[in-house]
Amino acid sequence: MSTDPRWDHLLLDVGLATLLDNGKPYGAVEHGAIGWRDGRIAFAGPMAELAGEPHALARHVESLPGAWVTPGLIDCHTHLVFGGERAQEFEQRLEGASYEEIARAGGGIVSSVRATRAASEDELLRQSLPRAKALLADGVTTLEIKSGYGLEPDTERRMLRVARRIGEELGVAVRTSFLGLHALPPEYAGRRDEYVALVCDIMLPSLAEEELVDAVDAFCEGIGFTAEETRRLFDKATSLGLPVKLHAEQLSDLGGTALVAGYGGLSADHLEWTSDEGVRAMAEAGTVAVLLPGAYYALRDTRPPPIEAFRRHGVDMAVATDLNPGTSPLLSLRMAMGMACTLFRLTPEEALRGATVNAARALGLEDDRGTLAAGKRADLAVWNLRHLPELCYWIGGNLLRESWLGGERVVL
Ligand code: NIG
Ligand code: FE
Repeated sequence: MSTDPRWDHLLLDVGLATLLDNGKPYGAVEHGAIGWRDGRIAFAGPMAELAGEPHALARHVESLPGAWVTPGLIDCHTHLVFGGERAQEFEQRLEGASYEEIARAGGGIVSSVRATRAASEDELLRQSLPRAKALLADGVTTLEIKSGYGLEPDTERRMLRVARRIGEELGVAVRTSFLGLHALPPEYAGRRDEYVALVCDIMLPSLAEEELVDAVDAFCEGIGFTAEETRRLFDKATSLGLPVKLHAEQLSDLGGTALVAGYGGLSADHLEWTSDEGVRAMAEAGTVAVLLPGAYYALRDTRPPPIEAFRRHGVDMAVATDLNPGTSPLLSLRMAMGMACTLFRLTPEEALRGATVNAARALGLEDDRGTLAAGKRADLAVWNLRHLPELCYWIGGNLLRESWLGGERVVL
């Protein structure tokens, strides 16, 4: 805390995409200014409303004409800690094999499990850091990272510890999700119940005790776990006071969406096969729909999630990379936003909301970040853009000018 009563920093002559309800698309403020102090936004609004001369208001003042400021992007669904990669499966799929066939033949998630189990904590960190850095370089300031390539206690723990270390090393906010029910490890073939018990009764409580778990996730799918198994995990999570989210209805409809909504879940993710009943349950519970167009694209899926129904029922939509070695080796959230527009027909404004305010909700962080409002954490992305839809329009490239996390400049 500084004793100087002035703000720490003030940006002038910028456009602001506040994402607040000010009657304008994106909650936009042109000719805006944004100032912060002690890591929190103190002012975000029109320059004309600044209550004094800039240097009287802030210790550091910068003018950035032509730049747009958005809330720092939030990638609310990644599996970016893993060993190895699966480019070979990419080739197999191009030759005609399906994701499910590869998984059933002992590849897929289980092949990343082998590589992840073989990697030490430092080695996992070394392999995973560049992926996190790539996300940061495209405007991300908060990211979620799941476990799920260990499927035994030591490696699950190692993954979650690496996720925490990524946050410390890069000065970025990381939320962890425990995904012990991601795939049945081969050594438990024919003993599903024993594995589910290990996850629910041993792994989850001990990892939660070590404060490595911010939320609990599962893969509810034919090649993953049943609704009943998921329920068992969610009952345990609830008893430990942990929020839940779910990979639901990606390849088939097992009713996962309604299930996770029934637990007041933070989010249901993927959702290509979600029924109207699932959408209604999400609306009622306030569960966020996390759209993952990277996996849809990489698997050459043809059935988009029910976007129109989400809109009609007022379900908030988030957009995330799903960064993982199998179905979504996607290293840019901005690219996921563009895909959500082109493949799912989101508007660029919906896509930006999906990667900020709604992504914050999907992580339970909406009171703290995701909009440019006084009191919110000073997590900002500053972009070289003329018009905000350019965020989704350019495919690749480098539009980020700088980013700030809790009022500190992010060093890339
Ligand atoms: O979100 N669907 C399950 N999990 C990941 C895929 C993980 C993998 O194939 O390694 C997903 O798409
Ligand atoms: Fe995923």
